[in-house]
Amino acid sequence: MSLVVDQLTRSFPTRGGTLNVLRGVALSMNAGESVAVMGPSGSGKSTLLQIIGTLDQPTSGTVTLDGVNPFQLRETELAAFRNRKIGFVFQDHHLLPQCTVLENVLVPTLVTAGLDRAETEQAAKKLLEQVGLANRLDHRPAELSGGERQRVAIARALILKPPLLLADEPTGNLDRKTARDVGELLMALHHAMKTILIVVTHSADLAATFPKRAEMNDGLLEWIS
Ligand SMILES: Nc1ncnc2c1ncn2[C@@H]1O[C@H](COP(=O)(O)OP(=O)(O)OP(=O)(O)O)[C@@H](O)[C@H]1O
Ligand SMILES: [Mg+2]
Repeated sequence: MSLVVDQLTRSFPTRGGTLNVLRGVALSMNAGESVAVMGPSGSGKSTLLQIIGTLDQPTSGTVTLDGVNPFQLRETELAAFRNRKIGFVFQDHHLLPQCTVLENVLVPTLVTAGLDRAETEQAAKKLLEQVGLANRLDHRPAELSGGERQRVAIARALILKPPLLLADEPTGNLDRKTARDVGELLMALHHAMKTILIVVTHSADLAATFPKRAEMNDGLLEWIS
């Protein structure tokens, strides 16, 4: 998997005029690489992640995932592409409250053709074991702590082994120790699965665990130490 972002811009028309949030972002990553993206509130970090994740479209510029420009795909193809290639972890876990932990992890597999159900369920159980929740398969999200919920969200993001994992403030709602645990878990799974990992964070602690860091400033992404 390779990810190439080139000359990416995103503007929002507002009543007060056009807001130029991304002004020419470039980024190139290969399988197994990771980056922590920092930068002030409102600098466009989430906007960038949404576009890389194909949930939003650029105003100009390109995103190429494994040689494919996802924005040239038809809607159904794009949905399938996103489902197979990209895993998301958000600040809020976005788990389905009425579903169990195991069911939540299986959600992305429900819309995926050609999967063996028994095998998929085994894979989900194995992932939940890896995130330390093997004994919570039948619990509902409301019965879990914030860190446990976030670990379920990580397992759900990885169930289809996406080559690209995007996380927007994955530890933003967690206390310091839990945040460290969740950060270490993300890093361990990233290493094990050789995904590209892009994490947006305000946490200097979390960013310090990444070999590469970048900062959004004035609509541009700059590498920092
Ligand atoms: N749909 C939209 N319409 C208009 N403006 C938007 C839209 N989405 C984002 N923006 C603006 O783009 C700017 C960047 O927003 P974004 O959410 O990417 O910031 P961020 O870096 O993720 O901030 P934070 O650290 O607070 O999460 C903000 O000024 C925001 O108001
Ligand atoms: Mg944000």
